[in-house]
Amino acid sequence: MLSARLSIDPGTSIGAVPRRLFGTFVEHMGRSVYEGIYEPTHPDARPDGFRADVLALVQELGATTVRYPGGNFVSGYRWEDGVGPRETRPVRLDAAWHSVETNQVGLHEFADWAREARLELMYAVNLGTRGIAEAADVLEYANHPAGTALAERRRTNGAEEPFGIRLWCLGNEVDGPWQIGHKTADEYGRLAAETARLMKFVDPGVELVAAGSSNAEMPTFGEWERTVLRHTVGLVDHLSLHAYYEESDGDAASFLASGTALDRYIEQVAAIIDEAGAGPGSEHPVGISVDEWNVWYQRRWNEIDKPVVMNGDWPEHPRLIEDAYSVTDAVVVGSLLVSLLRHSDRVTMANLAQLVNVIAPIRSEPGGPAWRQSTFFPFQRAAALAYGRVVAPVVEVPSIRTAVHGEAPLVDAVATVRDDGGIVLFVTNRSLDQEVALEVALGHVVGGAGSTGRASALQLVSAETLCTPPGGDRHTVNDAGAQPVGMTDLRGVSLDGALLTATLPALSWSVVVLAPSGAPISEEKLDV
Ligand code: AHR
Repeated sequence: MLSARLSIDPGTSIGAVPRRLFGTFVEHMGRSVYEGIYEPTHPDARPDGFRADVLALVQELGATTVRYPGGNFVSGYRWEDGVGPRETRPVRLDAAWHSVETNQVGLHEFADWAREARLELMYAVNLGTRGIAEAADVLEYANHPAGTALAERRRTNGAEEPFGIRLWCLGNEVDGPWQIGHKTADEYGRLAAETARLMKFVDPGVELVAAGSSNAEMPTFGEWERTVLRHTVGLVDHLSLHAYYEESDGDAASFLASGTALDRYIEQVAAIIDEAGAGPGSEHPVGISVDEWNVWYQRRWNEIDKPVVMNGDWPEHPRLIEDAYSVTDAVVVGSLLVSLLRHSDRVTMANLAQLVNVIAPIRSEPGGPAWRQSTFFPFQRAAALAYGRVVAPVVEVPSIRTAVHGEAPLVDAVATVRDDGGIVLFVTNRSLDQEVALEVALGHVVGGAGSTGRASALQLVSAETLCTPPGGDRHTVNDAGAQPVGMTDLRGVSLDGALLTATLPALSWSVVVLAPSGAPISEEKLDV
């Protein structure tokens, strides 16, 4: 059996867990909104038309923020279409996704739903077909208390109190030629800067996200960030990056090492932010918003589905990119979470894209059931358990060779440490076919930073793993009829003095929770 040794020392703490790391994304695209979160004719629909069963799963997922309303959609969107009496709202073409948008859900409905879902709303403005004035207008409409035409219009439309939206994205993927209103870095940098200036005049409390690159392979990656930052440093608070990964040509080893590509991407963007004088500790630091990330089989979309969709009719909420996620995909999602946590000093927020039906952890059928995809579980466990400070364990693990990413650690891990000394370990085994005997030295953790307290002060609360289910294989998925993929007990776990040992199944993502001895070990305690 392969073996791996970790040691956890809070003296190397990276920083506090940014709780916005567990954000998600709802776009007016495919069946994300309509037939996803909203389906007035469904047996489980509430009087407001939103599905109670889907909302319950969203609450269980435990995400912290939600980006809305796009995505590529936002670059052609008029926010005014989605407010006011529903019967007067216009039906429009959505040129981004070749669909018809009915505008039956807009800012009011979504903000109310997000509040119930316990999600902080992150609103994206259209810097594709629109500009500074419309961005300032939607901000004034949403956040100004009363007494102006826009604020009074909001009140007339049913929201007496402002929505108080703090997080705003300045456009979406403007670097991409596929984007409506695609721009050069200079064009976008100027527009983002002037939009930011006006938005901060209107509401100085907002936090603004400038659009970085759509992926690390963009020919403009690097130069785009430098140029945008030259225009916007001092005006924006975050710079975005988007990152999607997929398995190509059966190369599972490279796919499983996607976290190393995300590590590199984040570190490259962080270095550019430092060069621009906006690193941590600077007068106006710029954090990194990984505001879209996930596994997405984009090759299938680009080469097979998109040509059909884009040349066809103009349907309402068609089925778009409803990827069914396997065990392998879930392990990769878990390892991407490890990578995000490891960069907590630079990544201020991140959004799993998306939430329901469209490359999503939750799926639903019209008139039918809703269920958890395999990727639901690592996200849910990380969002529920990662509190306190992040610690990168010192690792002694074998490497694996990958065709795309070079050498990658076989076992990848990160830990979070609570003020009371409780520890949560998140760990990926990237081997497709071999178990790993894991040893974790915990001696320095108990009692806080620098302490050499005894591990007997800790107790094992839970140890779970996501791996191939009995009778399944690495391609097994959950579907409407059966959901075999989920968390199960991790085998061979013991805590002996300062040493935690466990057997990591092949191709697995595991989470081990340790609490101070004598502390209550209920889920509520862990979920504070
Ligand atoms: O999440 C799906 C799409 O991916 C978004 O609309 C776009 O921003 C990205 O390319």
